[in-house]
Amino acid sequence: MKPDTVAIHGGYACGDPSGATAVPIHQTVSYAYKTARELADVFEGRAPGYIYTRLANPTTTALELRLTLLENGIGGIAASSGMAAIASVVMALLKAGDEMIAAGGIFGGTVSLFENTLGRFGVKTHFVDVAETGRFAKAINDKTKLIFVETIGNPRMDVPDLPAVSKIARRANIPFIVDSTATTPFIVRPADLGADIVIHSTSKFINGHGTAIGGCMIDTGGYNWAKGAFVDIKQLSERVGRMAFLYHLKNVIYRDLGGCPAPMNSFLMLQGLETLPGRMEKHCANAAKLAAFLHEHKKVSWINYPALPESRFYDRVKKLYGGKGGGLLTLGLGDKAKAFRFIDSLKLAKNLANLGDAKTLVIHPASTIFAEFDEDARRQMGVSDDMVRVSVGLEDIEDIVKDFEQAIEKTF
Ligand SMILES: Cc1ncc(COP(=O)(O)O)c(C=O)c1O
Repeated sequence: MKPDTVAIHGGYACGDPSGATAVPIHQTVSYAYKTARELADVFEGRAPGYIYTRLANPTTTALELRLTLLENGIGGIAASSGMAAIASVVMALLKAGDEMIAAGGIFGGTVSLFENTLGRFGVKTHFVDVAETGRFAKAINDKTKLIFVETIGNPRMDVPDLPAVSKIARRANIPFIVDSTATTPFIVRPADLGADIVIHSTSKFINGHGTAIGGCMIDTGGYNWAKGAFVDIKQLSERVGRMAFLYHLKNVIYRDLGGCPAPMNSFLMLQGLETLPGRMEKHCANAAKLAAFLHEHKKVSWINYPALPESRFYDRVKKLYGGKGGGLLTLGLGDKAKAFRFIDSLKLAKNLANLGDAKTLVIHPASTIFAEFDEDARRQMGVSDDMVRVSVGLEDIEDIVKDFEQAIEKTF
């Protein structure tokens, strides 16, 4: 099936006895078996079956199958949030003393996880500027265990050269992990460009309506765990073959950390996926039009949208993402006071901490998501005091532009 069809039907064959066409919400903690022997067999992997929703749930399974099909993976696991997915993947791979390389200009929550939380557990992260791919190779040493990037960095809007970074990771025999939250499978399938593990915060464009938090992690099958640098997973691969990483993730970290999604939230993600292809088209089209308007506006100091011909990442977006720049952009208004005045003057766009909603959203990153970092660190991350991040929604673009125009007018 083609991706647009998979988004609607993938992972669920109306197998419910009632004939329910929507995936049923299995709102249950546990699953009963008639005999003690049957449950023991499921526990010990001698028979298939569900045990406990922290480990697996039929509604969540449908979501995992659909996302795996859309990402061309060999398997996937859904999580309670994007952060739970990122934390689970890196914690499944790293131990104290290990190092990783991450793209600069990525989501503040991820930076905090890598630098602060994992730092406390003895993991070191090197952040590199993705504009110069060679920096990834230079940052590798014998402690490096993985490379992590975002397809379009939030909020710096930097676009890594995925195939080139993948080659660097392959040469070092380490997995290449790609957070594709900003792009979704309807702009790019990172598996086709050399990603080994794909992560999403499904809270964003996949959910699409700001109604549930979720995440997922997909193994693309690109990394050979049998020949990899991870002893536990290597040993497992003798028993479970190329599913070794997912097996390790599910039966160790995911089970122990307890970051499973609520069944209701898995249902909401499945519903979001059904309309994702059409929504993503319009997010991109609206964002491109708003970016063009802001670029021309004399009072806007700067605008950053990777599909604008003036962007330093325009060629990569054209080559790797078919020219689609996603639904996010950032703009500068001169200073923090003007950024605040602009946000306060918007009537249609909502001022809140989320992205990927049908509604147009704005936020002042320096005083919110990145407030825990000092000014110097923020500068290095590309988060200036005059920056406003916009998640361009699905309203009529004329209404969005009108709202921005009147807010800029009131700002100056
Ligand atoms: C690129 C990216 N990855 C991960 C996350 C974290 O996702 P969640 O809020 O679902 O934990 C976010 C949140 O904004 C994000 O923008």
